[in-house]
Amino acid sequence: MLSGEVGGIELAGKLIVFEGLDFTGKTTQARLLARRLQDEGCEVVLTGEPGGTAVGNTVREILLSRRNSGTLDDFAELLLFLVSRAQHAREVVLPALDQGKTVVSSRYRLSSLAYQGYGRGIDLGLIERLNEEATRGRRADITFLIDVPVEVALARKRGDRDRIEAEAVEFYDRVRRGFLELTADDPSVHRIDGTGDVDATAAAVAGCLGL
Ligand code: TYD
Repeated sequence: MLSGEVGGIELAGKLIVFEGLDFTGKTTQARLLARRLQDEGCEVVLTGEPGGTAVGNTVREILLSRRNSGTLDDFAELLLFLVSRAQHAREVVLPALDQGKTVVSSRYRLSSLAYQGYGRGIDLGLIERLNEEATRGRRADITFLIDVPVEVALARKRGDRDRIEAEAVEFYDRVRRGFLELTADDPSVHRIDGTGDVDATAAAVAGCLGL
């Protein structure tokens, strides 16, 4: 039996998700937390969407390629993210949780509600149904929403932007509002101020787990 108690919280078989806008440092924070939990003796699977599987990586390339700017339909985009999520959940996340591992994922269900729901205007109820099926109803146990104002997040990007990163500020304003509204009353979500440096954000995340 794996020991997964950290800071008085049992983390074996638990799903921890990092969410937020692009350029908020979610993936870095997911990696740092995974390492910290490993140091505490947890068996951790570090993963993320879109991608995390061979099928998901193929879909990711379609989703992010600038070749598809202006042609990829919003509903088709939603379904492609759900293809990646279904494959990722069934191939990686759910089996690892069943084995008592702690899964740390950069993005999960909330991203589709915020980006495709609030950002693109697709019905939230429909997205939830698809999320539910794709993940066999498995929600995150703990979510860290790394929150950064849109201007701050976008100013961090240097170099080429992918198809979604090239969206206008108004799109990101809607997505951020989505993340904040969707999580406002959810006690499993910790909203973390991501405007500080990497170490400060990591300390805030660890503090939520009693580390
Ligand atoms: P991102 O987290 O930026 O991947 P990485 O950090 O590995 O580059 O995710 C890629 C993009 O996909 C990002 O702009 C957010 C978007 N996205 C959605 O629009 N909906 C979703 O359901 C998911 C998972 C991601």
